[in-house]
Amino acid sequence: MATRLMHNDAMDILTHAAVDATGFNQDFIDHETAVDLAKRGSDKWTRYPGCIGAFIAEMDYGLAPCIQKAIEDATEECALGYIPDPWKRRVSHACADWQQRHYGWDVSPDRIRPVPDVLEAYEVFLREIVKSGGSIVVPTPAYMPFLSVPPLYGVHVIEIGMLQKGECWFFDFDAIEDAFRNGCRAFVLCNPHNPIGKVLTVDEELRLSCLASQYGVRIFSDEIHAPFVFDGYTHVPFASINETTAMQAMTATSASKSFNIPGTKCAQVLLTNPGDFALWMTRAQWSEHQTATIGAVATTAAYTSGEPWFLEALKYVKGNFELLDAQMRGRFADVGYLPPQGTYIAWLDFKPLGIEHPTEYFLDRAGVALTDGTECGEIGKGCVRMNFAMPRPLLVECLDRMYDALHADALL
Ligand SMILES: Cc1ncc(COP(=O)(O)O)c(C=O)c1O
Repeated sequence: MATRLMHNDAMDILTHAAVDATGFNQDFIDHETAVDLAKRGSDKWTRYPGCIGAFIAEMDYGLAPCIQKAIEDATEECALGYIPDPWKRRVSHACADWQQRHYGWDVSPDRIRPVPDVLEAYEVFLREIVKSGGSIVVPTPAYMPFLSVPPLYGVHVIEIGMLQKGECWFFDFDAIEDAFRNGCRAFVLCNPHNPIGKVLTVDEELRLSCLASQYGVRIFSDEIHAPFVFDGYTHVPFASINETTAMQAMTATSASKSFNIPGTKCAQVLLTNPGDFALWMTRAQWSEHQTATIGAVATTAAYTSGEPWFLEALKYVKGNFELLDAQMRGRFADVGYLPPQGTYIAWLDFKPLGIEHPTEYFLDRAGVALTDGTECGEIGKGCVRMNFAMPRPLLVECLDRMYDALHADALL
């Protein structure tokens, strides 16, 4: 983290602490308090004053130095007008290069277009491809806007609950096929999946593709969490598998999660279906135009030079996952939980403890702000979505507060 972001206490700490060459500063992060984070003013730490923010999907690990430098350079040059073509091209090339390096996916930069955020791409998909009067399968629990946005475009949502088997979540392919057989022609894939952290296997992706081929279904593939995959799992971009999946998918991604720059507003849509590309260029130019120039600057820096910082951030996230996982298998063993395979989000089910409204419960009794599971679909009653990408000592405090409340109420 760059020095100028640090408050005095942290500066003192750092006087004797080594700053990682990548710019990822674990010592600094470990000393951040909820008060420090609230001072920065993020939604995560200000919406519920005095509480631990574990709801919105942001990381609390500062900014990669290369991004900070790129933003500073752009402001020095006053390069903050509407996004110009050269910056669009830089983003496309940087994104294509990232996809190649990380997933071996050769996607032409010409088919990658900027868009302010992944949801804007989802809106274009709903408006232009699914169309008013159509329907879309949303596997649940789901990232909340996947459920709330389609009705705004006259699109009916078909919620299909994920199934649990052993330590894993699986698609209910029978129910999905029923929906397709009954005329649904769209599916939203979130891989890695927010909020359950599932990372799809290629076999699962191919089974979905096979059904999609049979019924002529289009797939919106949200791969924003792709870089957050834990050991033993691999992210395979759906559209990268073969020509069929490339034609079925409209893929959206962004550096916004991996580098915590969602406020800079620059995602990317990967249009591997030529028909989608033609449609995009005629019908989505307005969406493209709204992309932020500063976001293009930040994103290009992130994809081009941010990897060493990101790898440290991922290491830290994995450490937090291990801590959470150990506690869930230990003193929280009665809480419903399957280990996430990626992302920095966990899905916790408090129905076994008899808690009907866990979000309210933990806000009131523990000062911990979580996402209400019901926002993620009907399957989410009694559940919460928890973001564990916070400073580790705060995660410890967060879990202590939750445990203490449950213990005091004789629920654990
Ligand atoms: C699965 C998923 N998709 C999309 C988004 C939106 O991200 P952005 O607004 O940065 O595009 C989020 C944010 O939490 C997310 O978790």
